[in-house]
Amino acid sequence: MKIIRKTNELEQILVLIKDKGQSIGSVLTMGNLHDGHLSLIKEAQINNDFVVTSIFINPTQFNNETDFSSYPKTIDDDIAKLEKIGCDLLFLPEIQEIYPGDLLKQNIVNNFRGILCDKYRPGHFDGVTTVVDIFFSIIKPNASYFGEKDFQQIKIIQELVKIKNHNIKIVSCPSIRDDSGMSLSSRNSKFTNDQSKIFNQLGSKIYEFINFCKKKSSNINLDNFKKQILENSINKIDYIEIRNENNLDITNVSSKARLFIALYIGEIRIIDNFKLY
Ligand code: PAF
Repeated sequence: MKIIRKTNELEQILVLIKDKGQSIGSVLTMGNLHDGHLSLIKEAQINNDFVVTSIFINPTQFNNETDFSSYPKTIDDDIAKLEKIGCDLLFLPEIQEIYPGDLLKQNIVNNFRGILCDKYRPGHFDGVTTVVDIFFSIIKPNASYFGEKDFQQIKIIQELVKIKNHNIKIVSCPSIRDDSGMSLSSRNSKFTNDQSKIFNQLGSKIYEFINFCKKKSSNINLDNFKKQILENSINKIDYIEIRNENNLDITNVSSKARLFIALYIGEIRIIDNFKLY
């Protein structure tokens, strides 16, 4: 696997690939790779001739310095995992390479904003769309693969490509889940044993509720479920909501809907979403 740190070097390599008429798939990550990321890379490999994975912990999408500096960094393991699955190229830029001047973020997308994570992490999605726009402009992939764990992020990135006229197919891939049914996440690697237990119990409670929603199908009320969750050693709930998966409007019917959650176990913020149909 080629490891490239400089934008101009990457661009030269990708021009040659494109000149050969080969398609490029990209998977943008912040590292600490787990099976969820690897499933995106495998999907990209199936559908493209050449796959670029990036690892870049993007400073502009964090809400505070501590969260940014404590983000898990496991670059040697990540490289070994990428080598093992035969990724073609890892783009591993320094901050200066992506943000040559100040760490500025732009407000590019306004749809799907003001709700869910955007309400609790102001500016986060401006940081995400700024960096994804920069990566798309450098890599110019034919398709880029994102995990449904970050469902709102995918919706916003789909808007980004329309607004910025990127000719890139955004491929949304199902979450890879652990035995308790929760999506894999880089943040879960920070759990203590006790926190892992709480996380697994949370999974059981959520799946009980999902089964209830599937049966009830309309007039679903979340109050009892939220109470139960708070009894389960959950520190804080940012949101537990049912929303239509197309327009992200609040709904109380299960058809085409997902349960969206963001909550804290200790200091670790968990986000996930679950189909209710
Ligand atoms: O989902 C992520 O890991 C990040 O938000 C992304 C898309 C790599 C942008 O930094």
